[in-house]
Amino acid sequence: MTEIRFDAGRQMEAFINAPAAAAPHAGEYLLASTPDDPSVVLGTPIFTTEQRNEGFWAAPPIPPLWKPGTRLRLAGPLGQGFSLPGGIQRLGLAALGETTARLRPVIDQFAASQTGMTLFTDLPLPQIPSSLEAYPLASLVEALDWPDFMVMDVPSERLPELRGLLHLPDRADLPCPAQVLVTMPMPCAGLARCGACAIPSRRGWKLVCEDGRVFDLRQLKW
Ligand code: FES
Repeated sequence: MTEIRFDAGRQMEAFINAPAAAAPHAGEYLLASTPDDPSVVLGTPIFTTEQRNEGFWAAPPIPPLWKPGTRLRLAGPLGQGFSLPGGIQRLGLAALGETTARLRPVIDQFAASQTGMTLFTDLPLPQIPSSLEAYPLASLVEALDWPDFMVMDVPSERLPELRGLLHLPDRADLPCPAQVLVTMPMPCAGLARCGACAIPSRRGWKLVCEDGRVFDLRQLKW
């Protein structure tokens, strides 16, 4: 790790100097451990927020003890990332967690295209490209018919409140397909199959660390 910066919400982002191929794609993660600190046995999941030639900026949260110069051992990329179909005309994005940064690679992917993009969030806004509009989360209720595809970043504990938030009836789906990046603590990150990251889907339980973190929203029980 060679540099830090702070996002609009004063959360730390870290620059990881690594071969470009090591950077996780949108929604995938790396497990980063600190070989100089043997007291930390398991790694920290980190996501790309911005890709550069000489490495990548990792999205918050970053462990507060990491400093420029901290050596990291990286494993991965792990998990299932966003996999968006072609032909999207109107892309809606919603960030309900602690940061919008994990959605940034998706925004960058479409920034130069003709796809219209709108971000719905109550978080402080990052520097956004001119092609992206941004509105408070509550505006999504009125705009649900606008996107033809949605990508979302949602903590697992907020999934059960999603329908209420969007004024959807019980069991109703969004009007368009959606992929959701589910965030939650992952104590073993799949190494010990502890099961602590299990969430209910329409076909039994799924492990967020292995089967996600990105899911088709219609596959989940929410
Ligand atoms: S975090 Fe242990 S199985 Fe997913």
